[in-house]
Amino acid sequence: MTADNSRVILPEPPEDLKRLSGRLSTKLRERIRARGPLPFSEYMEAALYEPGLGYYSAGLQKFGAGGDFVTAPELGDLFAGCLSRQVEEVCEALGSFSILEVGAGSGRLAATLLQRLARIIPAETLNYRILERSGHLRQVQKETLEQQAPGLMDRVQWLDHPPRHGWRGVIIANEVLDALPVECFEKAGEEILQLNVVADGPGFDWLPGPARTLLAEAIESRLGDSIDELPEGYRSEINLAVGPWLAGLTEHLERGCALLIDYGYPRRDYYLPQRSQGTLICHYRHHAVDAPFRWPGLQDITAFVDFTAVAEAGAACGLECSGYSSQAMFLLGCGLDDEIAAQLEATPDDQLRIGAEARQLILPSEMGEKFQVMALTRGIDTPLRGFTALDLRHRL
Ligand SMILES: C[S@@+](CC[C@H](N)C(=O)[O-])C[C@H]1O[C@@H](n2cnc3c(N)ncnc32)[C@H](O)[C@@H]1O
Repeated sequence: MTADNSRVILPEPPEDLKRLSGRLSTKLRERIRARGPLPFSEYMEAALYEPGLGYYSAGLQKFGAGGDFVTAPELGDLFAGCLSRQVEEVCEALGSFSILEVGAGSGRLAATLLQRLARIIPAETLNYRILERSGHLRQVQKETLEQQAPGLMDRVQWLDHPPRHGWRGVIIANEVLDALPVECFEKAGEEILQLNVVADGPGFDWLPGPARTLLAEAIESRLGDSIDELPEGYRSEINLAVGPWLAGLTEHLERGCALLIDYGYPRRDYYLPQRSQGTLICHYRHHAVDAPFRWPGLQDITAFVDFTAVAEAGAACGLECSGYSSQAMFLLGCGLDDEIAAQLEATPDDQLRIGAEARQLILPSEMGEKFQVMALTRGIDTPLRGFTALDLRHRL
């Protein structure tokens, strides 16, 4: 939740999409009628992933100019080029390895990474696995890879669940943590209330109620006495899904590294008293709005990431936090300047586009500071190049 901008005039969805959203709303209302007010995480889960109807499950265009938002891999090849330099370094330390990309979006990052790695590793030894919740996006990823990395398609495998046998390698998750369903809460006097979702005429609304046990315990352990500093009516979010998500992903990782990239803050900045309306935000046709109940299923719903909670979840799984930095400093540490020079040499006519892409990736007013990168490792002793320019672990 950010400042109330729900009065922003958004483009109207076409009638067929309104009907799709109507079908999801009907399902949600039936659930509320049967079970009472829904925790926000359940509403968010349905709005994003309800089979055939959720934002990521239905076949809507999400990424790029014709979609709702643009992610770093969609801007060009600089992000993937830098990431491949970090991946190569870890792979050298490991010997044999696999890559596991979680939530691969359009598949563009996978296509570029595969091509880059095939330059230094025999293609037949490449092993790229994708764990993607959305059936529709799996199909999009296959089409992208067929077009952009046709000779490497047979090196890619789509998984239905995290690896169940011991493996070594690198996990990559760009903008996935922000898409895990969160709980919302509000401070009322001495109490912390959970914000639930109720039906309100044809739409939905918030209904504060006593916090369920898991949420109350998590708020107590993560915020502790700092709750007292928060102003009356303070609202924010808490992600209870990150621990189980990370545990499942890394359970059988024998040696390797998870690179988690997302918009977020260390906890001390996340729960600042001034951030009194939280970080929940919806993306629709390149507008960012605070209106999670508008057109369920037609807009993306996300929350910023508490990176301290991610590091804690990692520690609980026996992973070491080996680096934490801003996206800008991570990309520079990976060799962004060399990557720009190499791409300019290969495509000199693209000078303006590559310059604009680099600015968007690293300027503090664009993605450079808002996006952060965390490395969680197991059995890797060597420092990671992405964190040599700046390491902010002391801020966690
Ligand atoms: C905001 S998109 C980011 C896509 C891509 N990584 C990029 O940077 O363009 C979030 C992606 O994560 C996927 N996703 C969300 N939760 C997931 C989970 N628990 N397991 C696998 N994929 C997930 C979504 O279906 C979608 O592909």
